[in-house]
Amino acid sequence: MVDTLTIRQPDDWHIHFRDGEMLKAVVNDTASQFGRGIIMPNLVPPVVTGADAAAYRERITAAIQPEHQFTPLMTLYLTDNTDPADVKDAADQGIIHAVKLYPAGATTNSQSGVTSINNVMSVLEVMADINLPLCVHGEVTSPDIDIFDREAVFLETQLQPLQQALPELKVILEHVTTADGVNYVRDGSYNTAATITPHHLMINRNHMLVGGIRPHYYCLPIVKRATHQQALRDAATSGHERFFLGTDSAPHLTHTKETSCGCAGVYNTPNTLSCLAQVFEEENALEHLEAFCSLNGPTWYGLPPNENTTTLTRRSTPTEYPASITTPDGTVTVFDPGVDLYWAAV
Ligand code: DOR
Ligand code: ZN
Repeated sequence: MVDTLTIRQPDDWHIHFRDGEMLKAVVNDTASQFGRGIIMPNLVPPVVTGADAAAYRERITAAIQPEHQFTPLMTLYLTDNTDPADVKDAADQGIIHAVKLYPAGATTNSQSGVTSINNVMSVLEVMADINLPLCVHGEVTSPDIDIFDREAVFLETQLQPLQQALPELKVILEHVTTADGVNYVRDGSYNTAATITPHHLMINRNHMLVGGIRPHYYCLPIVKRATHQQALRDAATSGHERFFLGTDSAPHLTHTKETSCGCAGVYNTPNTLSCLAQVFEEENALEHLEAFCSLNGPTWYGLPPNENTTTLTRRSTPTEYPASITTPDGTVTVFDPGVDLYWAAV
């Protein structure tokens, strides 16, 4: 049995750092393990201009401990009023690496998101021209669509028409959660990719809802039934070049999740690599872990892989990680996959 694995240092192609005290509390969990991260822009207020992104990047860099070499790759939050010229300028200057589309109302801090894709076509056309990827939160928001169907309906009614209209646009279906999404990406062109989270690989809706409701498993898009979980595991562990790691690690204070109307988001950074190695081992695919964590993402984004390496070992006793982290405003509960984990980065 393999019990040591050395891979190129991983990147996180979808991460929420927040701002202020929360940023300081979480950023080094990422910076100590990952080389780069695509930084989500859903702050309050959101990161909407190149100047906002440059200023946020400064705050992130200032919060990283000097011993870590971590490069934040910034994104802009697309709104109905985004200025195409500002997007092009920020991309030309190397400030941003992608733009994020949140359908208005789809998830945490998405109130300023896009109300209709038609309203942002001029921005998307510029992005296609300059090869700037669009990161998509792929869920419709109509109240009449069941929450478990919102991804599949989005693909059919929003994403497919967009990609037919603008096939040159690079699109990444963030945190894909369904077999429908996996098939959409597999059947798509090279311009279509997806990130997958560790928690969607580890749990399905039974874990969240059977025997009691577990608010720390609540995230958006919501975890689906086991057949969808298996489709995600198959995609991630296949080595397919258009599936790669985006943790969607999204810290919320514990008390804002353990309440009558809890926030969506899972804080998984401390045990992401342990979870992934376990999933890949269970699927007999450890040889594809490096592609998923460290190679496919940079290739798709047009960047070289990290020079550094990361070594993972399989221990005989369960790996320890904190149950929560502390911030001045309270704790953030760390994702508990509900099983012992044996792999850990050295
Ligand atoms: O569960 C989620 N939490 N999904 C998202 O799309 C946003 C994220 C957050 O920012 O908390
Ligand atoms: Zn996210």
